[in-house]
Amino acid sequence: MVATIRLLSGLVGSLSLLSQASAEPLRPTEQVRIMALGDSITGNPGCWRALLSRKLNATNIVPAIPYSQIRFVGTQNRTKCGYGRAYDWMHEGHGGMQATELAQATDPVTGIPVGPPMTQPRLRTYLTSPGVDPVDIILMHLGTNDIWNKKTTAEIISAYGQLLDQMRAVNPDVRLLVAQILPMEPSNCPDCAAKVRQLNRYIPLWAQYVNNRIQPGESPVRVVDQYTGFNATRFTTDGVHPNARGDEAIAQKWLDPVVAAVREVIDQRPGQLMV
Ligand SMILES: *[C@@H]1O[C@H](CO)[C@@H](O)[C@H](O)[C@H]1NC(C)=O
Ligand SMILES: *[C@@H]1O[C@H](CO)[C@@H](O)[C@H](O)[C@H]1NC(C)=O
Ligand SMILES: *[C@@H]1O[C@H](CO)[C@@H](O)[C@H](O)[C@H]1NC(C)=O
Repeated sequence: MVATIRLLSGLVGSLSLLSQASAEPLRPTEQVRIMALGDSITGNPGCWRALLSRKLNATNIVPAIPYSQIRFVGTQNRTKCGYGRAYDWMHEGHGGMQATELAQATDPVTGIPVGPPMTQPRLRTYLTSPGVDPVDIILMHLGTNDIWNKKTTAEIISAYGQLLDQMRAVNPDVRLLVAQILPMEPSNCPDCAAKVRQLNRYIPLWAQYVNNRIQPGESPVRVVDQYTGFNATRFTTDGVHPNARGDEAIAQKWLDPVVAAVREVIDQRPGQLMV
């Protein structure tokens, strides 16, 4: 709990106004790129991404911006959603992925921090992969597997901070939308439901904490409540993985924050996205 307590005392000491991120020089890109980052809930099959993609297409975000210029990107490819291929199926959802595991991986550029050997590619590797880079918006739903593997709330929140640093090292202005995670009630983990509630209480405090320390050119972290109203019994197949109703609920919760983030990205690049 030490890190969490330190985080909270820092938070209390700094309730000043958020500083506004100033617009960085525009990068030459013709797309707004969104990465869905997470575990099996995001990746396998992650059908909420297909629904979100459809909802985005149906939203008249900016009349001049065709949906084809708003892309989902990632190193992972999975199409088995029964929604055909009329959506972007690339993503960054890795079954079993823990926030703590991803965050501890060695940064290939700086060589630090050194964590346990990883069997998966690392966040920087993902973000800088051809066809992925540059990522403008990241939807992160992580922590479920950490809780399942008995990681503490403080460890998970600390990992979020490391991951944000790694994201900003690649793109300082990246917009992170962090989920308050779905409820989980797996049959083999009676403690999990309460631990999810505790993590979800700290996520907005963490976001406020990092937003109070935002640097020029950075964008604030936004919290998206994926917990409220999601019924782990009725909206999942096994207490964890969403069924069709769960996918619809998840997509709908992401929609407005994603639309807002896309609009912000477009506003910072006047003239770049016109056809
Ligand atoms: C993803 O998988 C589909 C279907 O197998 C394939 O057509 C497509 O080329 C793949 N995309 C990438 C980027 O690997
Ligand atoms: C997006 O919506 C348009 C207009 O309804 C439709 O013609 C198009 O097929 C849709 N594209 C995708 C990828 O869903
Ligand atoms: C979820 O739905 C079940 C079945 O309808 C109900 O018994 C339960 O109270 C609901 N749980 C929550 C947290 O609303």
